[in-house]
Amino acid sequence: MAGLLGIEHLTRVEIQAILDRARDFQPAPGQSFKRFDLLRGRTVVNLFFEASTRTRTSFEIAAKRLGADAVSITAQASSVSKGESLVDTLNTLGAMRPDAIVMRHGASGAPHFLQRHLGIPIINAGDGTHEHPTQALLDARTILDRGKQLDGSRVAIIGDIAHSRVARSNIHLLSKFGAQIVLCGPAALLPRELGNLAPGVTLTTNMDEAIRDADVIMMLRVQLERQHEAAFPAGEYFRFYGLRLEHLKLAKPDVVVMHPGPINRGREISSEVADSQRSAILNQVENGISVRMAVLERVLGDKNVADESGESATGQQAEGGAHVGAAH
Ligand code: NCD
Repeated sequence: MAGLLGIEHLTRVEIQAILDRARDFQPAPGQSFKRFDLLRGRTVVNLFFEASTRTRTSFEIAAKRLGADAVSITAQASSVSKGESLVDTLNTLGAMRPDAIVMRHGASGAPHFLQRHLGIPIINAGDGTHEHPTQALLDARTILDRGKQLDGSRVAIIGDIAHSRVARSNIHLLSKFGAQIVLCGPAALLPRELGNLAPGVTLTTNMDEAIRDADVIMMLRVQLERQHEAAFPAGEYFRFYGLRLEHLKLAKPDVVVMHPGPINRGREISSEVADSQRSAILNQVENGISVRMAVLERVLGDKNVADESGESATGQQAEGGAHVGAAH
């Protein structure tokens, strides 16, 4: 069974199926997430070699909401800090026979290597500057929830594009759905070749130009941990590329402001914008759970068909009585 390594090789139909299924898992307003029994008996290991708050927690919650057992391991708390090599760590985990591994790593391609090496489905939770597929999926779910179409929408992605796996996964996803994507940032953080990554992508170093008529503004953190030298003086960055209330007047009146987090207030986004009605930042966090439930079910659900209990992943009864049908 394949894991989920990136958005690049998914079809529009596959992406749509995940987005639709995530909607089934969204709680009604004011309610908490329901528990399901769809992945009972499965074990998901979260293996994080880089810092994470939202992604790791939401994968863990998502697995538990589906009835799976979830264990989280961070590099700092594992034998990696005692000098164990990546291959030895992976072999050790593989010997415990988890059903899937959710992996974040600083090296682009690390989850692909792991999947080949172990033969266990891997879900990429961010690999270097390459891809962060579940982030793009939850971003798309959030845009749709705010009543926007992806097709024909103008999406400005602003900030440290060069080091952003979030930008790359979003470019792949949004372009498959026909969005117009404007990438914006200081020249040193805006690789020209990204203009060729997918259809419908343009680049600019001018923030006003990027935001004009935007349906969606995605702000990105400056990834200092991936920069060998500061590409832009810290104080200057906010003046040229920090999102402030006055910018929103240039965008569509119902513009959706997004940020994958962690946000640095006063660096890439002002507090007034981050806390405004236009901001969907906390909706993104919430959607992280339902989207990751849909992804885990997709990656692991097939096995349920052959489960000893004889129950399939489809047609189960949710706790609150809601019926969950087949996603795909
Ligand atoms: C992003 C990441 O780790 O790529 N965060 C996240 O997953 N929500 C973006 C970032 O760290 O700036």
